[in-house]
Amino acid sequence: MNLTLKVWRQKNANDPGRFETYRARDIIADMSFLEMLDVVNEELIGKGEEPIAFDSDCREGICGTCSLVINGVAHGGQKATTACQLHMRHFNDGDTITIEPWRARSFPVVKDLIVDRVAFDRIIQAGGFVSVRTGGVPDANAIPIPKPDAELAMDAAQCIGCGACVAACKNASAMLFVAAKVSHLGLLPQGKVEKDRRVLNMVKAMDEAGFGNCTITGSCEAVCPKQISLDFIARMNRDYAVALLKRK
Ligand code: SF4
Ligand code: FES
Repeated sequence: MNLTLKVWRQKNANDPGRFETYRARDIIADMSFLEMLDVVNEELIGKGEEPIAFDSDCREGICGTCSLVINGVAHGGQKATTACQLHMRHFNDGDTITIEPWRARSFPVVKDLIVDRVAFDRIIQAGGFVSVRTGGVPDANAIPIPKPDAELAMDAAQCIGCGACVAACKNASAMLFVAAKVSHLGLLPQGKVEKDRRVLNMVKAMDEAGFGNCTITGSCEAVCPKQISLDFIARMNRDYAVALLKRK
């Protein structure tokens, strides 16, 4: 396949940025989207030009590092698929593809397609540990956990912290991400002890980072590569209200 790419290039956070057009030549259908960008970058480096900066790590859909808005959709619009797992067979020879970074005030652009997601780390730090004495490692079956709770906690734990939910939301809300993290810990007996403190602190950190409010458009759930359900937002709102009442 031969493709035309319109790629967002931005030197740093202060540069206004602009789209540049590139040709991607001899792209194989079995390549991933990031491998296609590697091919383009090799050509750019060969010509002595600056390669396109983009984030990736595992390239297996598990780390949440890749962060591309492809043709206007976070992760490219294939259901339950990260940008690194998106394959070129979903495109056609001659296509023009637009590639942009996540766009949200709380995710400033570092360079080209790379954004700074340290705001997510701050939210995790605000609530993501257990301070009770846990003792040695218990046997796996020493703490009975009802199966529905275990399954729901594991559903929430699938969140890879990519930030696509923020990028897709017109309010740049991080509610789906925070709700997944709050539920993943709060549903299990080990994490229940500090459930109230955790939800209050994580929501506070989310607000301080400048993320917008949720108006339940569902765009986050639609782009989430791990199909985290909007139900977790409702669950977090309940947990938050209960924690506030208890504190009063
Ligand atoms: S909720 Fe989904 S879209 Fe949001 S950070 Fe987690 S995995 Fe990514
Ligand atoms: S690079 Fe790890 S999820 Fe895409």
